Amino acid sequence: MAVMKLAITGKGGVGKTTVAVFLAKYMAGEGHRVILIDADPDANTAMTLGLDSSAQPEPISELKDLIFERTGAKGTGGEFYTLNPRVDDIPERYSVDADGVKLLRMGRLVRGGSGCFCPENAFLKNLLAYLLFRDDQVVILDMEAGVEHLGRGTAQGVDWMLVVVEPGKRSIQTALTVRRYAADIGVHNIGIVVNKFRSEEEFHAIQQQLAGLPVVARFPYLDGVASADLEGTCPYTGTDEQKKLVRDLLAGLNGSIGEPQGTGSASATP
Ligand SMILES: Nc1ncnc2c1ncn2[C@@H]1O[C@H](COP(=O)(O)OP(=O)(O)O)[C@@H](O)[C@H]1O
Ligand SMILES: [Mg+2]
Repeated sequence: MAVMKLAITGKGGVGKTTVAVFLAKYMAGEGHRVILIDADPDANTAMTLGLDSSAQPEPISELKDLIFERTGAKGTGGEFYTLNPRVDDIPERYSVDADGVKLLRMGRLVRGGSGCFCPENAFLKNLLAYLLFRDDQVVILDMEAGVEHLGRGTAQGVDWMLVVVEPGKRSIQTALTVRRYAADIGVHNIGIVVNKFRSEEEFHAIQQQLAGLPVVARFPYLDGVASADLEGTCPYTGTDEQKKLVRDLLAGLNGSIGEPQGTGSASATP
Protein backbone atom coordinates (compact mmCIF):
# COMPACT_ATOMS: atom_id res chain seq x y z
CA MET A 1 0.00 0.00 0.00
CA ALA A 2 1.29 3.37 -0.91
CA VAL A 3 1.95 5.84 1.83
CA MET A 4 -0.92 8.26 1.90
CA LYS A 5 -1.89 11.72 2.93
CA LEU A 6 -5.55 12.06 3.70
CA ALA A 7 -7.52 15.09 4.81
CA ILE A 8 -10.93 14.59 6.35
CA THR A 9 -13.53 17.28 6.39
CA GLY A 10 -17.28 17.78 6.56
CA LYS A 11 -19.89 19.49 8.68
CA GLY A 12 -19.52 19.38 12.45
CA GLY A 13 -20.69 16.17 14.07
CA VAL A 14 -20.82 14.04 10.92
CA GLY A 15 -18.05 11.71 12.08
CA LYS A 16 -14.80 13.21 10.78
CA THR A 17 -12.86 12.36 13.90
CA THR A 18 -14.37 8.90 14.09
CA VAL A 19 -13.36 8.13 10.50
CA ALA A 20 -9.91 9.67 11.05
CA VAL A 21 -9.33 7.53 14.12
CA PHE A 22 -10.54 4.36 12.37
CA LEU A 23 -8.11 5.01 9.53
CA ALA A 24 -5.22 5.92 11.78
CA LYS A 25 -5.63 2.95 14.09
CA TYR A 26 -6.07 0.53 11.23
CA MET A 27 -3.01 1.74 9.36
CA ALA A 28 -0.90 1.69 12.52
CA GLY A 29 -2.11 -1.86 13.10
CA GLU A 30 -0.87 -2.72 9.63
CA GLY A 31 2.59 -1.52 10.58
CA HIS A 32 2.59 1.94 9.04
CA ARG A 33 4.01 4.99 10.70
CA VAL A 34 0.95 7.12 11.21
CA ILE A 35 0.65 10.70 12.24
CA LEU A 36 -2.83 11.97 13.01
CA ILE A 37 -3.20 15.72 13.03
CA ASP A 38 -5.95 17.32 15.02
CA ALA A 39 -6.57 20.45 12.98
CA ASP A 40 -10.03 21.19 14.32
CA PRO A 41 -9.72 23.66 17.16
CA ASP A 42 -13.21 22.90 18.35
CA ALA A 43 -12.74 19.16 18.49
CA ASN A 44 -10.94 16.64 20.53
CA THR A 45 -9.26 13.94 18.54
CA ALA A 46 -7.27 12.88 21.60
CA MET A 47 -10.41 11.89 23.43
CA THR A 48 -11.67 9.79 20.52
CA LEU A 49 -8.26 8.10 20.41
CA GLY A 50 -8.95 7.12 24.00
CA LEU A 51 -6.17 9.27 25.43
CA ASP A 52 -6.53 10.37 28.98
CA SER A 53 -7.16 14.07 29.51
CA SER A 54 -3.77 14.29 31.23
CA ALA A 55 -2.00 12.79 28.20
CA GLN A 56 -3.17 15.14 25.50
CA PRO A 57 -0.73 16.87 23.21
CA GLU A 58 -0.11 20.56 23.60
CA PRO A 59 -1.60 22.67 20.80
CA ILE A 60 1.26 23.85 18.60
CA SER A 61 -0.29 27.28 18.12
CA GLU A 62 0.13 27.88 21.85
CA LEU A 63 3.89 27.41 21.80
CA LYS A 64 4.32 31.15 21.48
CA ASP A 65 7.91 31.41 22.70
CA LEU A 66 9.08 28.62 20.45
CA ILE A 67 7.22 30.03 17.47
CA PHE A 68 8.56 33.52 18.02
CA GLU A 69 12.06 32.19 18.38
CA ARG A 70 11.93 29.92 15.34
CA THR A 71 10.35 32.49 13.08
CA GLY A 72 12.74 35.17 14.24
CA ALA A 73 9.80 37.31 15.27
CA LYS A 74 11.21 37.70 18.76
CA GLY A 75 12.34 41.21 19.45
CA THR A 76 10.69 42.61 16.35
CA GLY A 77 7.27 42.78 17.95
CA GLY A 78 6.11 40.14 15.52
CA GLU A 79 6.54 42.45 12.59
CA PHE A 80 9.33 40.62 10.83
CA TYR A 81 9.69 36.90 10.64
CA THR A 82 10.67 34.11 8.32
CA LEU A 83 8.09 32.09 6.42
CA ASN A 84 10.36 29.06 6.62
CA PRO A 85 10.95 28.40 10.29
CA ARG A 86 12.56 25.14 11.34
CA VAL A 87 9.89 22.57 12.18
CA ASP A 88 11.49 19.15 11.65
CA ASP A 89 11.81 18.36 15.35
CA ILE A 90 8.25 19.37 16.23
CA PRO A 91 6.39 16.14 15.38
CA GLU A 92 8.62 14.07 17.65
CA ARG A 93 8.68 16.57 20.46
CA TYR A 94 5.05 17.51 20.61
CA SER A 95 3.11 14.46 19.49
CA VAL A 96 1.62 11.94 21.88
CA ASP A 97 1.61 8.26 21.03
CA ALA A 98 -1.61 6.29 21.23
CA ASP A 99 -0.84 2.66 20.41
CA GLY A 100 1.29 3.49 17.40
CA VAL A 101 -0.68 6.51 16.26
CA LYS A 102 1.17 9.77 16.78
CA LEU A 103 -1.22 12.56 17.55
CA LEU A 104 -0.29 16.17 16.91
CA ARG A 105 -2.59 19.00 17.81
CA MET A 106 -2.44 22.13 15.71
CA GLY A 107 -4.50 24.50 17.80
CA ARG A 108 -6.11 27.59 16.47
CA LEU A 109 -4.95 29.51 13.44
CA VAL A 110 -4.96 33.21 14.00
CA ARG A 111 -7.79 34.61 11.96
CA GLY A 112 -7.81 37.95 10.36
CA GLY A 113 -8.57 39.66 7.12
CA SER A 114 -7.56 37.96 3.93
CA GLY A 115 -3.85 37.55 3.66
CA CYS A 116 -3.49 37.56 7.40
CA PHE A 117 -0.03 36.36 8.16
CA CYS A 118 1.53 36.16 11.50
CA PRO A 119 4.30 34.06 12.99
CA GLU A 120 1.87 31.45 14.37
CA ASN A 121 0.22 30.84 11.02
CA ALA A 122 3.51 30.77 9.19
CA PHE A 123 4.75 28.19 11.65
CA LEU A 124 1.65 25.98 11.42
CA LYS A 125 1.56 26.13 7.65
CA ASN A 126 5.19 25.24 7.40
CA LEU A 127 4.74 22.35 9.80
CA LEU A 128 1.80 20.98 7.81
CA ALA A 129 3.68 21.31 4.56
CA TYR A 130 6.68 19.56 6.10
CA LEU A 131 4.52 16.63 7.25
CA LEU A 132 2.64 16.33 3.99
CA PHE A 133 5.71 16.29 1.83
CA ARG A 134 7.58 13.65 3.76
CA ASP A 135 7.06 10.30 2.18
CA ASP A 136 7.81 7.89 4.99
CA GLN A 137 4.55 8.05 6.88
CA VAL A 138 0.81 8.12 6.61
CA VAL A 139 -0.61 11.53 7.47
CA ILE A 140 -4.25 11.91 8.40
CA LEU A 141 -5.61 15.40 8.88
CA ASP A 142 -8.72 15.64 11.02
CA MET A 143 -9.99 19.01 9.89
CA GLU A 144 -12.70 21.44 10.73
CA ALA A 145 -15.53 21.96 8.27
CA GLY A 146 -14.40 23.52 5.04
CA VAL A 147 -11.09 23.63 3.25
CA GLU A 148 -10.58 27.36 2.76
CA HIS A 149 -8.00 27.55 5.51
CA LEU A 150 -5.94 24.72 4.04
CA GLY A 151 -4.27 26.84 1.41
CA ARG A 152 -2.95 25.85 -1.96
CA GLY A 153 0.51 24.74 -0.95
CA THR A 154 -0.82 22.34 1.64
CA ALA A 155 -3.78 21.11 -0.36
CA GLN A 156 -1.48 19.94 -3.11
CA GLY A 157 0.28 17.65 -0.71
CA VAL A 158 -2.95 15.84 0.13
CA ASP A 159 -3.71 12.73 -1.96
CA TRP A 160 -7.35 12.54 -1.00
CA MET A 161 -9.80 14.89 0.57
CA LEU A 162 -12.47 12.78 2.23
CA VAL A 163 -15.72 14.54 2.97
CA VAL A 164 -17.89 12.82 5.54
CA VAL A 165 -21.65 13.14 5.19
CA GLU A 166 -24.47 11.81 7.33
CA PRO A 167 -28.17 11.46 6.64
CA GLY A 168 -29.19 15.11 6.48
CA LYS A 169 -29.19 17.82 3.86
CA ARG A 170 -26.84 20.18 5.63
CA SER A 171 -23.91 17.81 5.60
CA ILE A 172 -24.51 17.23 1.90
CA GLN A 173 -24.54 20.98 1.29
CA THR A 174 -21.19 21.20 3.03
CA ALA A 175 -19.81 18.49 0.75
CA LEU A 176 -20.95 20.37 -2.34
CA THR A 177 -19.32 23.53 -1.02
CA VAL A 178 -16.09 21.68 -0.36
CA ARG A 179 -16.04 20.55 -3.95
CA ARG A 180 -16.16 24.14 -5.15
CA TYR A 181 -13.25 25.24 -2.97
CA ALA A 182 -11.20 22.13 -3.46
CA ALA A 183 -10.74 22.69 -7.16
CA ASP A 184 -9.58 26.25 -6.51
CA ILE A 185 -6.87 25.27 -4.08
CA GLY A 186 -5.64 22.28 -6.03
CA VAL A 187 -6.97 19.24 -4.16
CA HIS A 188 -6.57 16.24 -6.45
CA ASN A 189 -9.22 13.81 -5.35
CA ILE A 190 -12.43 14.23 -3.41
CA GLY A 191 -14.26 11.23 -2.03
CA ILE A 192 -17.38 11.04 0.05
CA VAL A 193 -17.68 8.85 3.12
CA VAL A 194 -21.33 8.19 3.87
CA ASN A 195 -21.52 7.76 7.62
CA LYS A 196 -24.20 6.83 10.14
CA PHE A 197 -26.77 5.59 7.65
CA ARG A 198 -29.21 3.06 9.04
CA SER A 199 -30.64 1.47 5.92
CA GLU A 200 -29.96 1.04 2.23
CA GLU A 201 -32.81 3.46 1.53
CA GLU A 202 -31.08 6.08 3.61
CA PHE A 203 -27.77 5.42 1.85
CA HIS A 204 -29.35 5.78 -1.57
CA ALA A 205 -31.22 8.92 -0.58
CA ILE A 206 -27.90 10.52 0.35
CA GLN A 207 -26.18 9.28 -2.78
CA GLN A 208 -28.90 10.78 -4.97
CA GLN A 209 -28.20 14.21 -3.57
CA LEU A 210 -24.45 14.14 -3.97
CA ALA A 211 -24.61 15.38 -7.55
CA GLY A 212 -22.03 12.94 -8.80
CA LEU A 213 -19.50 13.28 -6.03
CA PRO A 214 -17.98 9.81 -5.76
CA VAL A 215 -18.75 7.75 -2.70
CA VAL A 216 -15.55 6.01 -1.64
CA ALA A 217 -16.81 4.46 1.57
CA ARG A 218 -19.85 3.53 3.58
CA PHE A 219 -19.82 3.53 7.34
CA PRO A 220 -23.19 2.47 8.73
CA TYR A 221 -24.48 3.63 12.06
CA LEU A 222 -22.56 1.53 14.60
CA ASP A 223 -23.82 1.01 18.12
CA GLY A 224 -20.28 0.38 19.27
CA VAL A 225 -19.17 3.85 18.16
CA ALA A 226 -21.97 5.54 20.00
CA SER A 227 -21.36 3.59 23.21
CA ALA A 228 -17.60 4.17 23.06
CA ASP A 229 -18.31 7.89 22.91
CA LEU A 230 -20.51 7.64 25.99
CA GLU A 231 -17.79 5.78 27.83
CA GLY A 232 -14.97 7.98 26.57
CA THR A 233 -13.09 5.07 25.03
CA CYS A 234 -11.68 4.68 21.52
CA PRO A 235 -14.39 3.45 19.13
CA TYR A 236 -11.87 1.51 17.06
CA THR A 237 -10.94 -1.74 18.74
CA GLY A 238 -9.80 -3.64 15.67
CA THR A 239 -12.75 -5.99 15.26
CA ASP A 240 -13.09 -7.79 11.93
CA GLU A 241 -16.10 -5.65 11.09
CA GLN A 242 -14.16 -2.45 11.73
CA LYS A 243 -11.14 -3.62 9.79
CA LYS A 244 -13.32 -4.48 6.84
CA LEU A 245 -14.86 -1.01 6.84
CA VAL A 246 -11.44 0.59 6.65
CA ARG A 247 -10.12 -1.87 4.08
CA ASP A 248 -13.13 -1.15 1.92
CA LEU A 249 -12.53 2.56 2.31
CA LEU A 250 -8.92 2.19 1.21
CA ALA A 251 -10.03 0.02 -1.69
CA GLY A 252 -12.55 2.74 -2.57
CA LEU A 253 -9.70 5.20 -3.01
CA ASN A 254 -8.41 3.07 -5.83
CA GLY A 255 -11.75 2.95 -7.55
CA SER A 256 -14.70 4.63 -5.95
CA ILE A 257 -17.65 2.48 -5.07
CA GLY A 258 -21.32 3.24 -5.30
CA GLU A 259 -21.32 5.71 -8.17
CA PRO A 260 -24.78 7.15 -8.64
CA GLN A 261 -26.69 4.75 -10.82
CA GLY A 262 -29.57 5.29 -13.18
CA THR A 263 -30.17 8.16 -15.49
CA GLY A 264 -32.45 10.28 -13.35
CA SER A 265 -29.80 11.70 -11.04
CA ALA A 266 -28.86 15.34 -11.23
CA SER A 267 -25.25 14.36 -11.78
CA ALA A 268 -25.74 12.71 -15.13
CA THR A 269 -26.33 15.98 -16.91
CA PRO A 270 -24.70 18.85 -15.09
N1 LIG B 1 -20.76 5.35 12.29
C1 LIG B 1 -21.20 5.88 13.45
N2 LIG B 1 -22.12 5.22 14.19
C2 LIG B 1 -22.58 5.74 15.33
N3 LIG B 1 -22.19 6.90 15.86
C3 LIG B 1 -21.27 7.61 15.18
C4 LIG B 1 -20.72 7.14 13.95
N4 LIG B 1 -19.81 8.05 13.51
C5 LIG B 1 -19.80 9.04 14.42
N5 LIG B 1 -20.67 8.80 15.43
C6 LIG B 1 -20.94 9.66 16.60
O1 LIG B 1 -21.28 10.95 16.12
C7 LIG B 1 -20.74 11.97 16.96
C8 LIG B 1 -19.85 12.90 16.16
O2 LIG B 1 -18.73 12.17 15.68
P1 LIG B 1 -17.31 12.86 15.46
O3 LIG B 1 -16.43 11.85 14.83
O4 LIG B 1 -16.84 13.52 16.70
O5 LIG B 1 -17.74 13.97 14.41
P2 LIG B 1 -16.93 15.26 13.86
O6 LIG B 1 -15.47 15.01 14.07
O7 LIG B 1 -17.29 15.34 12.41
O8 LIG B 1 -17.44 16.44 14.62
C9 LIG B 1 -20.00 11.24 18.07
O9 LIG B 1 -20.86 11.14 19.17
C10 LIG B 1 -19.70 9.88 17.47
O10 LIG B 1 -19.63 8.89 18.46
MG1 LIG C 1 -14.02 16.10 15.09
